[in-house]
Amino acid sequence: MTTTNSLQQAFLQTAYPIGGHGKRNIQVLKEALNHYEDELDSDQYGKGKVIEDFQAEMAAFFGKESAVFFPSGTMAQQIALRIWCDAKGVKRVAYHPLCHLEIHEEDGLKQLHHIEAVLLTDEDKLIRLEDVRELKEDIACLLLELPQREIGGQLPDYEELEAISSYCREKGIKLHLDGARLLEILPYYQKSAAEICALFDSVYMSFYKGIGGIAGAVLAGDEAFTQESKIWKRRHGGDLISLYPYILSAEYYFKQRQSKMGQYYEEAKELAERYNHCHAVETLPLLPVTNMFHVHIHVPKEELEAILIAMYEACGVGLTAYLRESDESSCSFEVSLGDRYGHIPKQVLGDAFEWLDQTLRARVE
Ligand SMILES: Cc1ncc(COP(=O)(O)O)c(C=O)c1O
Repeated sequence: MTTTNSLQQAFLQTAYPIGGHGKRNIQVLKEALNHYEDELDSDQYGKGKVIEDFQAEMAAFFGKESAVFFPSGTMAQQIALRIWCDAKGVKRVAYHPLCHLEIHEEDGLKQLHHIEAVLLTDEDKLIRLEDVRELKEDIACLLLELPQREIGGQLPDYEELEAISSYCREKGIKLHLDGARLLEILPYYQKSAAEICALFDSVYMSFYKGIGGIAGAVLAGDEAFTQESKIWKRRHGGDLISLYPYILSAEYYFKQRQSKMGQYYEEAKELAERYNHCHAVETLPLLPVTNMFHVHIHVPKEELEAILIAMYEACGVGLTAYLRESDESSCSFEVSLGDRYGHIPKQVLGDAFEWLDQTLRARVE
């Protein structure tokens, strides 16, 4: 067994894993389906009450004309960008160098759609209005990922978003929101989803991140855009004969957790403070702006794995199941808070972070 495996196993055995909502097991689907009548008819190839009602509900929530349910965000977003490129006759878009399309989709946008991507700004920064203004090439669409996951879930100020949105409108550039974690950003901005979405021409949101569903995504925009996205969904094989297990779980957990995002955000700030009080530890951002952040610990990976395993066994609190090596002397991991955190007794948390701090201090003394 490698150390990585044993870190994961030690994590799985803790009484109090910190992140997420709970185990991703069959119970998650059962709980959702139990909520609906046995007689409710399945959707069929994108049609039927179960899918159409939910799409209408989501369109209203986003303040958009129309919305389409997709099996995945990867499919929905490539399609959105394809539509905007075809409309302008320009096969070029711009986005952040660490956005999902660039680093997690095996170049789908380029391989399937032959769309070129201009990477804006440095990997560790947010996209600013200046970056968009300085673009030399003509682009059909600018994609903004809010929050920018790979840099700890950072967010630009609302004023900057408004400025980028007006600039894009002025220049005939479509603005697309990768809002995989759209609900999670609303408490920070103190805006409704519709107010944020009004700045964008098209919007995608995921149902299995902060919402905690099984899988699935929604893409919203004007009627012509969503009609075209349905055609592309069919071409991509995304029109499964029945999507209702995803739709019903999406709807159920959306309703369960929509109002909890403010709580997760407050808890993320509290937890980040606990981390930042520990020796050789800092969070990115220092003060979280959503329910997520990254933790950077200045200890070599193997050594830190051993410390964490000992901590999990001694305190019963699980911080992470994996570590990502940043360099020889430090590593990082992502934290994303959901229902679990609020159930951990404060005393247990306090003792665990005290243990971590003392152990990290003892290392260098
Ligand atoms: C920011 C962001 N965009 C898009 C996606 C793609 O979503 P899906 O897994 O549904 O394809 C993800 C998934 O992790 C994501 O984090």
